[in-house]
Amino acid sequence: MKPYKESILIVDDSYDLLEVLQRQLQANGYHTYQASNVVDAIDVLKGSHVDLLITDMQMPGIHGLQLVKYAAEHFPKIPRLVITGFPSVSGAIEAVKSGAVDYLVKPFTQGELLQAVDTVLHTRRITKQANPKMSGTVSSYAGIIGVSDAFQKLIEVIGRVKDNRATVLVQGESGTGKELVARAIHYSGSFSKAPFIAVNCGAIPENLLESELFGFLKGSFTGANETRAGFFQAADGGTIFLDEIGNASSAVQSRLLRVLQEKEITMIGAVRPQKINVRVIAATNVDLYGMVQNGTFREDLYYRLNVVNLRIPPLRERMEDIPILARAFIQKFSREFQRDGITITEKAMELLMRHSWPGNIRELENVIQRAIIMCDGEISIEVLPDFLKYQISNETENSQELLSLQEVERNHIMRVLRAVGNNKTKAAEILQIDRKTLRQKIQ
Ligand SMILES: Nc1ncnc2c1ncn2[C@@H]1O[C@H](COP(=O)(O)OP(=O)(O)OP(=O)(O)O)[C@@H](O)[C@H]1O
Ligand SMILES: [Mg+2]
Repeated sequence: MKPYKESILIVDDSYDLLEVLQRQLQANGYHTYQASNVVDAIDVLKGSHVDLLITDMQMPGIHGLQLVKYAAEHFPKIPRLVITGFPSVSGAIEAVKSGAVDYLVKPFTQGELLQAVDTVLHTRRITKQANPKMSGTVSSYAGIIGVSDAFQKLIEVIGRVKDNRATVLVQGESGTGKELVARAIHYSGSFSKAPFIAVNCGAIPENLLESELFGFLKGSFTGANETRAGFFQAADGGTIFLDEIGNASSAVQSRLLRVLQEKEITMIGAVRPQKINVRVIAATNVDLYGMVQNGTFREDLYYRLNVVNLRIPPLRERMEDIPILARAFIQKFSREFQRDGITITEKAMELLMRHSWPGNIRELENVIQRAIIMCDGEISIEVLPDFLKYQISNETENSQELLSLQEVERNHIMRVLRAVGNNKTKAAEILQIDRKTLRQKIQ
């Protein structure tokens, strides 16, 4: 499938981890080199063609950060992905400061690894590509796939903001691609070489968020045994992605306002602010304006964040994107599970088109992933989850006129028959009637 096998150098002092990473990457069509220390890694960098460097941080002898620095200086074209064992921010921050493009926090899944590798490698592909034409149908832009008008509009806005530092508020239901869009803005723009730091404001305990974001001085509170930079400092020159912004406490909100107004941050415990040059992209799946109205989110901050508003419509409002997305996911997972050549039947695609996808693109992705595992070369209705077959979307239910019992029965039978590709045994099973009764009813 891959026209060109990208080469990845993996550096880790643990042979077990090297082995696992090597297997997972090779299984997904990458060529790999291994090194268990920085000195060997530098030899490989000097002597071979490497497209991506993945390195652990903590290694006996020379620290992984030194390797990142070295590579950033001598091989700036090779993107650097860092694996850090620290669950906290400090390792990651140091890594991006030293020139890593992205980082993975241990433990991570194969999916997370491949996603990170793909994004980091993709970054280069995007920057190499000419800008996509905004006219005509673009079907993929920086990993965002679609054909709908909504998709076209989305990439048009991305094109407008990618090279400036305007603050962007991305709104959309869960699974609509908010983070993907934020990454696309950063990685396709002029500041893509600078760090992209994603912070999930909902996942960090409220009392820690402030110090993690802005950093703190030694002694500024109990437990502050050292001075430490925050996410904002780490993102300097690049982008900070504040996910689930609705979860920010009022203290964080007022500090954020100051960052946006004055372009400076004050570390906790510090008197003097420091200048900072960071693009802020915030995202939310809650009605932030509603929070403003009920007094839980600052109105002034809301307007500061909402300089450019990017609303990603739910999948059910752009059904025409489903086939191309489904096909892209089939390709992606066929490759991941080494099951090339998997196709999808027309009927199965029809069923995908009829679902209302409350979990949006993430849900579609999961359904396809499962179907690839369950199918033998072809995704048919049988390997799709049951809820796709019976679900009556709320919209149809609400908009339906009042019908007689007989009509409802007739419609429902037709629906089930369509869903199972006219297989009467299956339909009878679902309807919990015997085949004979079903035949009579059909007649
Ligand atoms: N247009 C798209 N093309 C291809 N993949 C997409 C698209 N939109 C979303 N995805 C994929 O769907 C999944 C969910 O996207 P993402 O994590 O960006 O959503 P989100 O809006 O941030 O969701 P949540 O609110 O739950 O955090 C990801 O795997 C992403 O790659
Ligand atoms: Mg998200």
